[in-house]
Amino acid sequence: MSIIIKTPPQIEKMRIAGRLAAEVLDMIEPYVVAGVTTGELDKICHDYIVNTQNAIPAPLNYHGFPKSICTSINHVVCHGIPGDKKLKDGDIINIDVTVIKDGFHGDTSKMFYVGGENKASTLAKRLVKVTHECLWKGIEQVKPGNTLTDVAASIQMHAHKHHFSVVEVFCGHGIGQGFHEDPQVMHYVPKIPYEKARLDAVVFKPGMTFTIEPMINAGKKQVTILRDEWTAVTKDKSLSAQWEHTLMVTETGYEVFTLRQEEIVDNKLPLRQEEMT
Ligand code: MF3
Ligand code: CO
Ligand code: CO
Repeated sequence: MSIIIKTPPQIEKMRIAGRLAAEVLDMIEPYVVAGVTTGELDKICHDYIVNTQNAIPAPLNYHGFPKSICTSINHVVCHGIPGDKKLKDGDIINIDVTVIKDGFHGDTSKMFYVGGENKASTLAKRLVKVTHECLWKGIEQVKPGNTLTDVAASIQMHAHKHHFSVVEVFCGHGIGQGFHEDPQVMHYVPKIPYEKARLDAVVFKPGMTFTIEPMINAGKKQVTILRDEWTAVTKDKSLSAQWEHTLMVTETGYEVFTLRQEEIVDNKLPLRQEEMT
């Protein structure tokens, strides 16, 4: 395992890539309505990334992935391929955006309620909220000296407290000039001792950059891949939710590169040192 510690100039590029990825999610929000197809959402994002941001949509042709974003509706866990499917009121959908700018990746996803929160079932709302809390509980464990086990344990504990399950077959990842770099960022603590030892061994150091992206199911954790060889769905057809940020370990904690406007306005988050002056 080799984790790439980013240099200050590289970190500046990661900030820009992260901000662009977040801006795509802000941009697409008004289009996420009943009747729109996921293919149309893909085209809007693609054109925005390529023409407005002068950036590259990382998923397109990545290991053969055919589209520029991932769209995962209801029981789809992740890697949903945009297509002719129309959104309908009450659906929950994850849109996952990864852009490459100046050679560096920014990777982020969020859940949207089609037709607004009021159209969603009580279960869907609970799942989406708890998954968002799982993401932030994971992020809050990031500081020098803590390990990947701290992140995994806090996510897993929160999901289980609400009687939800944690998907184990997909994880977060180091990110930088590579889309998926070392380390693997698990969202659960493995029971197998040598696997857990691998998480314990990754001690956070300033300049490490990675994603945290928990996938949480309302039912069981098991996942099936569809015949398209990408779309991951819950085996028991239960609802699934996911949120993702790209972040960096700092001297004192973390810096999230993919904050959206709503998160910046909220102002609940620690500002970067240079912004405090
Ligand atoms: N954005 C996803 C992640 O968070 C990866 C998508 S790979 C793709 O890691 F090929 F499906 F696009
Ligand atoms: Co990712
Ligand atoms: Co992603």
